[in-house]
Amino acid sequence: MRGPASPSGKISFLKTLVVVALAQSAVAAVVDPAVLDACPGYSATNVTTSRNGLTAQLVLRGPACNVFGNDTERLSLSVVYETRNRIHLKITDASQARYEVPESVFPRPQAQSVPSRSSNIQFNYTASPFSFSIYRTSTREVLFSTSSHPIIFEPQYLRVKTRLPANANVYGLGEHTNPFHLPTDNTTLTLWSRDAYGIPTSTNLYGNHPVYFEHRTTGTHGVLLLNSNGMDVKLSSGEPGGPALEYNVIGGVLDFYFFAGSENDPTQVARQYAEVAGLPAEVPYWGFGFHQCRFGYKDFVDVASVVSRYAAAGIPLETMWTDIDYMDRRRIFTLDPDYFPLPRMREIVQYLHNHDQKYIVMTDPAVPYLPDEGYTPYDHGKELDIWLKAANGSESLGVVWPGVTVFPDWFHPNIQQYWTDEFLSFYSPETGIDIDGVWIDMNEPANFCNLPCDNPFEQAIEQNMPPPRTTLPPDPNAPIFVNATSSSSSELKKREDLLNPPYAINNAAGPISSKTAFTDIIHANGLSEYNTHNLYGTMMSVATRDAMLARRPGKRTLVITRSTFAGAGAHVGKWLGDNLSLWDHYRFSIAGMLAFASIYQVPMVGSDICGFGGDTTENICARWASLGAFYPFMRNHNQDNAISQEFYLWPSVEQAAKNAIDIRYRLLDYIYTAFHQAHIDGTPILHPVWFKYPKDANTFAIEHQFFYGDSILVSPVTDEGATSVSIYLPRDIFYDFTTLAPIQGTGSSVTLTDVDFTKIPVHIKGGAVLPLRVSSAMTTKLLRQTDFEFVIAPDARGTASGSLYIDDGENLVQRGTTEVGMTFRGGRLTVSVRFGYATGVKVARVRFLGVARSPRRVLVDGRAVERSAVVYDQGTKVLDVTIGVPFKKGFSVELQN
Ligand code: NOJ
Repeated sequence: MRGPASPSGKISFLKTLVVVALAQSAVAAVVDPAVLDACPGYSATNVTTSRNGLTAQLVLRGPACNVFGNDTERLSLSVVYETRNRIHLKITDASQARYEVPESVFPRPQAQSVPSRSSNIQFNYTASPFSFSIYRTSTREVLFSTSSHPIIFEPQYLRVKTRLPANANVYGLGEHTNPFHLPTDNTTLTLWSRDAYGIPTSTNLYGNHPVYFEHRTTGTHGVLLLNSNGMDVKLSSGEPGGPALEYNVIGGVLDFYFFAGSENDPTQVARQYAEVAGLPAEVPYWGFGFHQCRFGYKDFVDVASVVSRYAAAGIPLETMWTDIDYMDRRRIFTLDPDYFPLPRMREIVQYLHNHDQKYIVMTDPAVPYLPDEGYTPYDHGKELDIWLKAANGSESLGVVWPGVTVFPDWFHPNIQQYWTDEFLSFYSPETGIDIDGVWIDMNEPANFCNLPCDNPFEQAIEQNMPPPRTTLPPDPNAPIFVNATSSSSSELKKREDLLNPPYAINNAAGPISSKTAFTDIIHANGLSEYNTHNLYGTMMSVATRDAMLARRPGKRTLVITRSTFAGAGAHVGKWLGDNLSLWDHYRFSIAGMLAFASIYQVPMVGSDICGFGGDTTENICARWASLGAFYPFMRNHNQDNAISQEFYLWPSVEQAAKNAIDIRYRLLDYIYTAFHQAHIDGTPILHPVWFKYPKDANTFAIEHQFFYGDSILVSPVTDEGATSVSIYLPRDIFYDFTTLAPIQGTGSSVTLTDVDFTKIPVHIKGGAVLPLRVSSAMTTKLLRQTDFEFVIAPDARGTASGSLYIDDGENLVQRGTTEVGMTFRGGRLTVSVRFGYATGVKVARVRFLGVARSPRRVLVDGRAVERSAVVYDQGTKVLDVTIGVPFKKGFSVELQN
């Protein structure tokens, strides 16, 4: 079955066994696996082993198979034990440099190495045919092995295939709308940034995170393939050689990081991944407040009225958002003078700020191509020469909201200057729109121009971009906020190669340049869009964050992006794009959010609450208001042609939102503490149930329950009209969040009934001390002025612990922070305080859960408290002790029987 080598690059006869539907026809490559497996692979020579790793040359072992190009004859292999828990393995072309993800976009961890014998995972290899495996040192279990399938390395095609255990538990490899627990039978996950309206299942979406965690009852490990080229990752179970995970990549190098994870604690692998991907950027405290947005607020009166109506309804609104509607003909960095005039917009922002609320607007990357109109954002970019260029040196044109557009080149040396200048001027606090955060979208980059896009001007007209307004402008002097109740609240490639690579990834948009920037564009630094496409959104994110930091030096900001690459969380947060008002999308949002928060290290994440596309319904919106209160980023947003869906529009939705925001706000410091921990060491702020019960196989495929922070189990109702839900309670003690009564989990499903449309089942996992605010508030500023209560929820051994981190919520560098540790054991709560930030509030009371009987006396710092300060409820087994202790120093509360 082996064909002759074809050094001339002519197609070998093997290729006749490969059915490649040409990229032009937008059908993905379908390859007979036997063809790939018949490739010769490599032999390892010149192997040099050191204490900390190994290097070798890999030489093609037989006649080339040239499946999608010529096999590279000689490769270099390097293996470094970078830490005790991380092996870095890289295979590159030995004869010439190939594209690698630039350090400027994905900074690598500092060079370091440890002796291999101290490592928790080990590299092993077979010289010929070359294959390698990674195994866990303690158990000798193989975690990754290429032994059954040859490695293929061609200019535009790389193939690595590892065996998986039967029924493997694999998570990650997004962004996609597949289950969190990935189906391992015949699933293809394609990584290629795409504007993916409706987030169709099993297609490539906006972001690219080529990392997965694999979990077994014996441990959890992780694998990152640091490569930004388009790829299909295939999971299959029924092939010769058994279940497998196969990378098919159209460029770059094989740059793997293997993470040992741990045998008992899955969160370790998340922290280890964060050491490479970067730690999440801290966000302002207010970022956890509730956000309201929509596409289609027609004018400033509309925007102001939503703010007023939230206040009137008594639903806390932290941040008002405005979509592209505010722009003049959808041109970025402009305001429509009739619909969103500057003075009125400044009035709205001022109003919000006076009421301790915030304002965020959209900024798209595409800049209208208006060479002769004195439109500064275009002229300024032209002057700095920062637009993406076509092969002939002209500006590469596309079609986006404003019509014909150019696109910024985020690799251009002048790009930051451009972007920051534009931000400083348009978003000027003194003369412009004084935003508090920013929303960046369409940064795959999205392009409406259909291939071959040879006349974008015609297409802009055909597609009616920009669309005309359909309403009359408001009276410029229209009163706003009058009835408001105060809320007090160098790599040049042939054009064909870069446009139509021989291996066509399964891009749901068709050819890889379809509906985006042309992939043969060469950036200012010589890199092609072909290689760097998947980085565009993250690069825009970094530039935007820097521009925002330039506006308010030293202050944290909130930037929410649509497209991301591995490492984006170190700069920005993310929303999950254009979902629809469907129960499937409501349910899926949990998987999407878990992937970003617990695997990809992008913890500030959420889905459009009540659904973006299509008309929502009262029932789904009520349930979604409740579920959305447990997204780290909570935003209601919908599409311009869908019915309005602000929470105050239906009674049950209003009540559900109030109930859920009440819980969210009372828990805000708990999640803020978790977020701070994520920022310090990558500990996830959300956990799939199996993170907490890694030996309980029943938890591995749970899709619709999750932990918000370490200890809050959220189990939403998942169906239309339902008032019951079957949930899994692991063998552990839980406490109902509302009644605080204990419930013994038995490792089985429990059906909860009578779950009102305005309620969501929430349980506290035994073993936690939760820092809650005693009550909610209309704004996070007021919330910060509210006292705390500690809720002690003991585990089966009668112990519990927790922590609380408090800072000013605004600055990047803190002058002082207050860190509180709480431990409960033997009937005694001990609170330690490292005081550095004055909160001005107290711990008003402590609430002990699961207390069998009222104690004889309660001592605070050794002194018995008044009987009246102690209230015991036999029915719920809750003991409340009013204390009123300031946060200055530690204290203890002891229950004596
Ligand atoms: C696409 C985004 O995904 C959506 O959220 C936004 O409303 C529209 N662009 C309009 O800006």
